Amino acid sequence: MSVYMTKWCELAKQNINNRPNVGGRLGGKIVIVTGAAQGFGKGIAEELYREGASVVIADMNLPLAEEVAKNLGERAAAIAVNVADDESVAEMVGKTVETFGGIDLLVANAGVVRSGPLATFEKKDMDFVTSINYTGLFLCCKYASIIMQAQHEAAPDRLFDIVTISSKSGLEGSNKNFAYAGSKFGGIGLVQSFALELCEYGIKVNAICPGNYLDGPLWSDPERGLFVQYLNAGKVPGAKTVEDVRRFYEAKVPMNRGCLPLDVARAVMYCVEQEYETGQAIPVTGGQVMLN
Ligand SMILES: NC(=O)c1ccc[n+]([C@@H]2O[C@H](COP(=O)([O-])OP(=O)(O)OC[C@H]3O[C@@H](n4cnc5c(N)ncnc54)[C@H](O)[C@@H]3O)[C@@H](O)[C@H]2O)c1
Repeated sequence: MSVYMTKWCELAKQNINNRPNVGGRLGGKIVIVTGAAQGFGKGIAEELYREGASVVIADMNLPLAEEVAKNLGERAAAIAVNVADDESVAEMVGKTVETFGGIDLLVANAGVVRSGPLATFEKKDMDFVTSINYTGLFLCCKYASIIMQAQHEAAPDRLFDIVTISSKSGLEGSNKNFAYAGSKFGGIGLVQSFALELCEYGIKVNAICPGNYLDGPLWSDPERGLFVQYLNAGKVPGAKTVEDVRRFYEAKVPMNRGCLPLDVARAVMYCVEQEYETGQAIPVTGGQVMLN
């Protein structure tokens, strides 16, 4: 372990009983949300903040992350990170400990999508998705769990959490979207394995598998969003407008709407509050995907 990491572990141990006295379901907990400058991550961070957590908005896009943190208030801080970079993730964890004193919950949310047919899909796109959604997940879990293990030494009865944001495409295949689906299936393999290894340190590890966030930027961005892309590509038969494409995707959901950050945040809080479960992949899909 690097000298820096040893120092951050010591600092986290010293601060184990030093948490802000705030009410709420997550009152006083120190949380990192990766990819929190926009989309699901931003919404999750906002909900957890509202429930009393101190929140690190960790993202590649530092200016946007700073704006999110500023709008939240004094228990929020922005930290720049590239989750695919070993050193950068170690620094994110270190800066979190230096800023707030420890880590009680990691929400590993940062993720990307590149889709296309198998015959023309390029290796660089496969590598890009894998490096962020799969290897990046490993790095975030690795460094956060080092701090949590140190905290466990100082407070053996305390529980800590890692919650990864997978996808419904982590539970069933996704047509012409295999790089993404594969990375998300793989992420669940990591979650189950880390859960087994980290149990003895009081660290629970679970995944949330959301349905499509149809109101989020990935789908709804007027220029680059998936609705516009699918309309232009003629992916939805008979669709003439963005609204037609949207209704097509809504109709796939028994509960007839897209997934919202609050739906995902509730599942994150369930994972934290539930003291007798680990290694699970929990669908939050309005009934679109059901576990066997
Ligand atoms: N949007 C959906 O419909 C949907 C559905 C299911 C699961 N998910 C999952 O939810 C998570 C968030 O998705 P979203 O749609 O909100 O994404 P988004 O594209 O709106 O936001 C992703 C954020 O992650 C950041 N990011 C990207 N690469 C990064 C890196 N290497 N290091 C640090 N930050 C990085 C971006 O700057 C951005 O702020 C992803 O893991 C995604 O797979 C999304």
